[in-house]
Amino acid sequence: MGIIGLGNRGPSHLDTFRYIEGVEITALCDVEPERAVAARKRLDGTQHNPRVYSGSPEAWRELCHQENLDLVVITTPYPMHATMAVYAMEQGKTRGE
Ligand SMILES: NC(=O)c1ccc[n+]([C@@H]2O[C@H](COP(=O)([O-])OP(=O)(O)OC[C@H]3O[C@@H](n4cnc5c(N)ncnc54)[C@H](O)[C@@H]3O)[C@@H](O)[C@H]2O)c1
Repeated sequence: MGIIGLGNRGPSHLDTFRYIEGVEITALCDVEPERAVAARKRLDGTQHNPRVYSGSPEAWRELCHQENLDLVVITTPYPMHATMAVYAMEQGKTRGE
């Protein structure tokens, strides 16, 4: 799974998902590079090795195209949720199989 938006809620969800058996965190994205890097660092020394997307307000679209990704958690500001969710679902990121 991957997470878009690594402000307050994103890292909190990251710290939950990282301990769930069978879940692999494969992608992280925040428009602010330092937030993306800080979230990645939380996973240092774990079995998770996510690809990091950042540096552009549209970088999240690249995340949605990543192949080893079944599920996207969106923790950006509310007005972005519909656009991001629909795009993610259009790329098949709706469930793990
Ligand atoms: N903080 C809470 O306790 C809380 C509780 C319930 C719901 N929520 C909701 O959760 C969502 C996230 O809240 P938060 O407190 O973490 O907000 P936040 O502002 O701390 O984090 C949002 C993150 O999204 C990033 N972002 C903005 N535009 C982006 C883009 N185009 N691509 C990638 N990343 C982008 C920001 O850089 C930021 O790091 C909001 O919709 C909020 O209303 C928050």
